[in-house]
Amino acid sequence: MREPSGAPLRDGAADNNPGLPALEVTGVSKRFGGIVAVDDVSLAVASGEILGVIGPNGAGKTTLFDLISGFVGVDAGSVVLAGRDVTDVPPAGRAHLGLGRSFQDARLFPGLTVEDTIKVSLDRWTTVRDPVLAALHMPAVFDSEAEVSTRTDELIELLGLEAFRSKFVRELSTGSRRIVDLACIMAHRPSVVLFDEPSSGIAQRETEALAPVITRVASELGAAVVIIEHDMPLISSVADRLLALDQGRVVTEGTVDHVLHHPLVVASYLGTTQEVIQRSGGGSDD
Ligand SMILES: Nc1ncnc2c1ncn2[C@@H]1O[C@H](COP(=O)(O)OP(=O)(O)O)[C@@H](O)[C@H]1O
Ligand SMILES: [Mg+2]
Repeated sequence: MREPSGAPLRDGAADNNPGLPALEVTGVSKRFGGIVAVDDVSLAVASGEILGVIGPNGAGKTTLFDLISGFVGVDAGSVVLAGRDVTDVPPAGRAHLGLGRSFQDARLFPGLTVEDTIKVSLDRWTTVRDPVLAALHMPAVFDSEAEVSTRTDELIELLGLEAFRSKFVRELSTGSRRIVDLACIMAHRPSVVLFDEPSSGIAQRETEALAPVITRVASELGAAVVIIEHDMPLISSVADRLLALDQGRVVTEGTVDHVLHHPLVVASYLGTTQEVIQRSGGGSDD
């Protein structure tokens, strides 16, 4: 791989606080009417680490992401990015502080090429004049068109999009569009990235292509990654640790092997059969 030229792809706040977790969530809870969607959940993720979140439908996984990214306010608890408490910071401010999130329906322009899509994303980020950004004295991110081109090339290489560079977004499969969406997230140089079921709605072959991309987000950009995923082979292969949720609460947390063999996880989520676990390939990292 070519050495990245110019400034690093990422300048997340974590770089200034090497001892702190990139993301620390402490005792967050959220109630919707009578339903406790998230109940006293805590987690911490370091730069370069991948935390997988599993649990049955309705366990509170997506709500947990909404609380972390600020789209939903917490009833209790705190969200801290690289030592900075962002519990009261709105989503845009959290994004400027390095929090990136992928959405299942990538909001991309169908009539742009992959290359131009990434450029627009880099550009949009440059030209945003957000009062939060100003208030936090964040530096201007990009200086020149040349720099945008260089960073576009770096992202295309990092995410393996070379073959799609000149294709229009409308020509791409759902799986490839999701990787372009990821390139747009990476353009913002996140220090923390949240993925909510990246494999949903895409073909098995494309799911297999996602694993190395997700791993590179952590290993090459040094981002802390939290991934929600139902695909056990995918999440077991990328995650350093797993956290299991059920009915809003943490059931257990630890190595992939520990979590996938935990009796409550097997009972509440994986079912009584051991087949799922065996197929997942998560049985040998303890
Ligand atoms: N905006 C909302 N209003 C009311 N209830 C919600 C809302 N969002 C989620 N819920 C409820 O919270 C619980 C957790 O949902 P969710 O976080 O989407 O679970 P998961 O992503 O694990 O499937 C569910 O019972 C769901 O119906
Ligand atoms: Mg969900």
